[in-house]
Amino acid sequence: MKIRAAVLEEFGQPLNVQEVDLAEPADGEVLVRLEACGVCHTDLYTASGADPSGYAPTVLGHEGAGVVEATGPNVTDVQPGDHVVTLFSPQCRECIHCIDPRTNLCLAIRDQQNKGYLPDGTARLSRDGEPIRHFMGTSTFAQYTVMPQIALARIDPEAPLDRACLFACGLSTGLGAAMFTAKVGPGSTCAVFGAGMVGLGAVAGARLQGAERIICVDLSQERLDLATGQGATETLIGGEDTVDKLLEMTDGFGADYTFEATGNVNVMRQAVEAARMGWGLATMCGVAGKGETLDVVPRLLITGRRVAGSSFGGVTGRDQVPQLVNRYMAGDIDVDAFLSHRITLDEVNKGFDLMHHQDGIRSVIDFT
Ligand SMILES: NC(=O)c1ccc[n+]([C@@H]2O[C@H](COP(=O)([O-])OP(=O)(O)OC[C@H]3O[C@@H](n4cnc5c(N)ncnc54)[C@H](O)[C@@H]3O)[C@@H](O)[C@H]2O)c1
Ligand SMILES: [Zn+2]
Ligand SMILES: [Zn+2]
Repeated sequence: MKIRAAVLEEFGQPLNVQEVDLAEPADGEVLVRLEACGVCHTDLYTASGADPSGYAPTVLGHEGAGVVEATGPNVTDVQPGDHVVTLFSPQCRECIHCIDPRTNLCLAIRDQQNKGYLPDGTARLSRDGEPIRHFMGTSTFAQYTVMPQIALARIDPEAPLDRACLFACGLSTGLGAAMFTAKVGPGSTCAVFGAGMVGLGAVAGARLQGAERIICVDLSQERLDLATGQGATETLIGGEDTVDKLLEMTDGFGADYTFEATGNVNVMRQAVEAARMGWGLATMCGVAGKGETLDVVPRLLITGRRVAGSSFGGVTGRDQVPQLVNRYMAGDIDVDAFLSHRITLDEVNKGFDLMHHQDGIRSVIDFT
């Protein structure tokens, strides 16, 4: 079928919205009609050429939500009409990682997904007979996409898809970092560095876990105000002295849980240093630049601090994304506050511009 899609032709150039071909879903695959898709930093990062594993041409986009249009052979978990959130982090429920509760890093289709192909090693996207590679196994800057059923989370059909799409990446990453990676305990003190989509999600997750104090750090007062709206009890403008300030605010001890959501390795170090002696857990969500390293004084670890990393917030996509959406539907998470701009697919580059200027938290492409 012919579909409209935003193609990355060349790194550093605007995406080109055009007509491409999409083949039928093959074994275990599903045709999804996108209704909404968030524009995320990872899309921009790849488009810029900064991602060393990036490739072109490809159809970007990974924060998608839509409706199942058709299914290929041997699809048992979704059917036409189901509402789904796309998962760049799939859940096959069978691999050695999926059957172990310690991780959400499914191994089933990793290799092919990283190369830009569906699990059988081929692409469904093409143009003039030449294949176009998929991006993150999702390619949701498009009217339709074909994805494996293990990478689709079936959600409450009542959930508005322009909000649900945010659970496909940033929001779940932040929520999950607090709820599933760190497993924040009730009554605890948390410090969240960064108040973008991920950090704000971590603030909300810490609140849902019953944290008593949630201190959010950012460079922007406007974003700190949003953090307050998500449940931050105190806010701080970040700087060189942030660790000292946090220690001062916590009787010299630091926070039980710290979260880094900036991608800056200096802030990651602050997150480790601001974690409490004895049991403080510092969770890293940000993606650092190529070749950058995290500098930690080992004594901080000997005295009981721990460092964790979190991919997609440790969320097992098919099981837990629907549960998080349910909590939104129950009124536990204020998702509306994150949706700052609504754009059309043809305006996708405007979404990048807005992100570049830190204008709003998320622009969402509306396909309806
Ligand atoms: N681990 C994952 O699976 C995953 C998923 C999505 C995004 N990410 C990463 O998470 C990070 C955050 O993503 P986002 O969408 O929220 O980004 P964002 O740019 O919207 O937010 C980052 C925030 O950090 C703040 N900041 C920058 N420097 C700071 C400093 N020195 N002190 C305090 N705050 C500072 C900025 O003002 C901004 O508000 C990025 O690195 C992104 O690549 C990781
Ligand atoms: Zn798996
Ligand atoms: Zn993302």
